[in-house]
Amino acid sequence: MKIDNSVAIVTGAGGGIGAALCRRLVENGARVVATDLDGERLDKEVAAIRADHPDAIVGIAGDCSATDHIRASIELAESSFGPVDLYAANAGVGGLGENLDSTEEDWQTSIDVNLMAHVRAAKLLVPGWIERGSGHFLSTASAAGLLTQIGSATYSATKHAAVAFAEWLSVTYGDRGVGVSCLCPMGVNTNMLNSGATSDSEIARKSAKAVTEAGMVLEPLEVADMVIEALGTDRFLILPHPDVLEFFRRKASDYDRWLRGMRRYQESLA
Ligand SMILES: NC(=O)c1ccc[n+]([C@@H]2O[C@H](COP(=O)([O-])OP(=O)(O)OC[C@H]3O[C@@H](n4cnc5c(N)ncnc54)[C@H](O)[C@@H]3O)[C@@H](O)[C@H]2O)c1
Repeated sequence: MKIDNSVAIVTGAGGGIGAALCRRLVENGARVVATDLDGERLDKEVAAIRADHPDAIVGIAGDCSATDHIRASIELAESSFGPVDLYAANAGVGGLGENLDSTEEDWQTSIDVNLMAHVRAAKLLVPGWIERGSGHFLSTASAAGLLTQIGSATYSATKHAAVAFAEWLSVTYGDRGVGVSCLCPMGVNTNMLNSGATSDSEIARKSAKAVTEAGMVLEPLEVADMVIEALGTDRFLILPHPDVLEFFRRKASDYDRWLRGMRRYQESLA
């Protein structure tokens, strides 16, 4: 897709990867609606970007998994800038509950934010994109969506679901003008990773350590740069950590061996 002059919506833009994506999109000529559940955090990020690019970004607080909020974000984009070209479904929740102790509510929130937010946004946008013959859906899943997340069943399962939904979107609409990309990073220096690393819970710390020991921790802006480059070539799988591709290949080539290796890795983190 062409980013210059495009109109984008970015969820989870109150910090981390989402805020970095907003900054890089705006720097590359896009106009952006930034949205996050945390209005205060969002306001700060939007103000910082507006200081350099006054007319290129607006913010709207709300829950990215609520259809009414997604509709309001789309309407704001259309009234401020024009039809939406890119939807970055980036907000995510990590580590809700531990192992099999996650509650029904933990599961429901993980499913809503990590998967259904994507489904609900696609339902509102894809028909228009097919009519116009263009539009791009960027899903921030995770390396955990291709591999697994030690310590978190909710995160592992819902990030796999996000990858599966992005694949399905691409297979179903890829020849009708709808581009799809799926971002699957390992460690990125954001609140999500750092709150696990400093948590009181041993399992949450182990979960974060499983990520930080497996490869380098990237800065959000480094990841955003890779996303901008991948969007320019309409690439589906965006892997900021090259190791993930190797781990994914090993998993596919010998599932049982990979599972044994993951159990050993988990033990080694104790
Ligand atoms: N940091 C990592 O190591 C890492 C690795 C792989 C994938 N990811 C994914 O990257 C994405 C961005 O996370 P991040 O690392 O920048 O962490 P982050 O905590 O800085 O950002 C996540 C944002 O999502 C927002 N959010 C949560 N629930 C929401 C909801 N219902 N509606 C709207 N906003 C909501 C939060 O308020 C927060 O600002 C997530 O999907 C995460 O799973 C992160």
